[in-house]
Amino acid sequence: MSIQIFITQPNGAEEELSCEDGATLLEAVQIGGLDGLVAECGGNCACGTCHCYIEFVAEGALEEPSSEEDQMLDFVVTPREDNSRLACQIKITQALDGMRVRMPDRQF
Ligand code: FES
Repeated sequence: MSIQIFITQPNGAEEELSCEDGATLLEAVQIGGLDGLVAECGGNCACGTCHCYIEFVAEGALEEPSSEEDQMLDFVVTPREDNSRLACQIKITQALDGMRVRMPDRQF
């Protein structure tokens, strides 16, 4: 069963992603051909250019950031907020169905 994730672009456009279990959010966005992430390091938690904001997710569905992700979030270009995450570190699971993600207006 595919997992639906809703993306809001900086211009307010709403997009819907159908994802497969096991991909990362970064991979799902890239496969879906959506804008908003740069991912200079290719998903290795080393660049901070896959920053996004998780606007809604079912309670307990998303794991907390690892210490590596937490540290890298200090280097993102747009303001770090409580709901800031790196898309390359989010593994898609069925529990994330219905998650809402907002893209920042720039990644560098
Ligand atoms: S792609 Fe570089 S930190 Fe996520």
